[in-house]
Amino acid sequence: MSNSLPGSSRSITMSRRNFVRTAGAAAVVVSSPFTRSAFARTAASNRITIGVIGWGMMGPSNTKEFLGYDDCQVVAACDIHKAHLQAAVDTINSHYGNKDCKAYHDYHEILERDDIDAVMIAIPDHWHAVAATAAAAKKKDIYGEKPLAKTVAEQQAIVKAVEANNVIWQTGSWQRSIPQFHKAAEIVRNGLIGPVTHVEVGLPGAPYDFPHTVPALQERLATEQIHIKDPSELVMGTPAWNLAVAQPQADLDYDTWIGPSQMEDYIEARVYQNWRWNYNTGGGQLMDWIGHHGDIAHWGLGFDRTGPSEVWGFGDFPEKDAAWNVARKYTVACTYKKEVTGYANDVHMTIAGGSAAISMGCKWIGPEGWVWVDRSGFDCSNPEWLKPGPLPENLRKIKLYESKEHRRNFLDCVKSREQTITPVQTAHHSTMPGHLGLISMLTGKAIHWDPKTETIANDAEASALLTRPFRAPYKLA
Ligand SMILES: NC(=O)c1ccc[n+]([C@@H]2O[C@H](COP(=O)([O-])OP(=O)(O)OC[C@H]3O[C@@H](n4cnc5c(N)ncnc54)[C@H](O)[C@@H]3O)[C@@H](O)[C@H]2O)c1
Repeated sequence: MSNSLPGSSRSITMSRRNFVRTAGAAAVVVSSPFTRSAFARTAASNRITIGVIGWGMMGPSNTKEFLGYDDCQVVAACDIHKAHLQAAVDTINSHYGNKDCKAYHDYHEILERDDIDAVMIAIPDHWHAVAATAAAAKKKDIYGEKPLAKTVAEQQAIVKAVEANNVIWQTGSWQRSIPQFHKAAEIVRNGLIGPVTHVEVGLPGAPYDFPHTVPALQERLATEQIHIKDPSELVMGTPAWNLAVAQPQADLDYDTWIGPSQMEDYIEARVYQNWRWNYNTGGGQLMDWIGHHGDIAHWGLGFDRTGPSEVWGFGDFPEKDAAWNVARKYTVACTYKKEVTGYANDVHMTIAGGSAAISMGCKWIGPEGWVWVDRSGFDCSNPEWLKPGPLPENLRKIKLYESKEHRRNFLDCVKSREQTITPVQTAHHSTMPGHLGLISMLTGKAIHWDPKTETIANDAEASALLTRPFRAPYKLA
């Protein structure tokens, strides 16, 4: 049986799944989406139970926030690297002072547990769609990481699964839960700089060695007098490559780690965290960041359900068979046509990675001013808006969704069954300029995209890149 919560255009049809939600919903309807007082010191039987999947860079960070809320309990952890899994379980159990959190190698076992309400998925991008569609099919609410998925088709599958199963989705595009981004987007959305004509989205360019695995590789190669700046100079089939290939770490299930992507030699410097720098598993800095500053750009414009019609991308690439083969510098030019968006005029967006001319962050430019925002700061053309705190009330005719903390917002929405601040459709649309820009770069052609039908016009080669073959036996749920 299902019904809808009254009084909210954002409400989602309530699922059968658990009494926590049904009982909690009535209390939440009257409170703002981010209050927690109504649920403080929740009885154990009424806590939202969570399974965390992936304990690398982002998994622990998300989990730490969940551990801080006493109306939820993390009861299961999964990782295919034994040491990571042990660290997860130890961290969680030591926080609660018990041994209730169970360890899993296979996330399906978490999804099979009827006593688990929600999952947090923080595994590499090439795994997102397979895991998220499986979780949605099992009616788990999902906190999933950005970018939504590795390909457009995989994103569409996640959107479909989340909507068909009426599960709550929050994307890890947490900048929307930070006040300076909220304020910047509200200035733009309230028309204070006039109809935006241009948006600059500044992202990092070259790969960054997150886990510092490159020095060990360089040392290994140096013993044979081979010197590389980084793995973008390490090319398949060369003597350097043969030296770099190693046995996977004994406690890592590397076959599962590769999952739906194509099997490839194990080179430590392109696995943990550095999987971002090879197109088999990631999408470079462009796809790593589009769900952050690209997401904020869309928020200010009110483009959460639309997209660009024309996209041109240019990138500087290493060799295709390099261990790090993603673009090191790139520019993507998008045109959002007014006939499609309903905006006052066409909007041009320039996404630049590693550009000296475009600052990191998001800058909207209109006929009456500009606003720039990044994690490091906020600036704008009008000194009045620079005063600390939110915009003056008289300027806030349009009030954007407020979330004080991203994981908190997810928990509140699990109870209220309302949309989170970054629901699945938002995540899907936020990443499209990145996906299409990458397809344009790889094909060397402009992409003519129809945001309504989500198809590329008259280009079979580009259209083929909206999806990718999965390695057997992996498939979407
Ligand atoms: N929102 C943010 O600010 C932010 C920041 C960093 C990363 N991320 C995102 O988080 C996700 C994870 O990135 P990361 O940097 O933490 O990666 P990571 O390589 O540090 O960690 C991934 C973990 O997942 C495990 N794993 C891989 N496949 C698995 C599977 N099938 N089942 C269970 N465990 C599996 C790995 O063993 C590893 O421990 C990515 O989508 C990334 O884009 C988001």
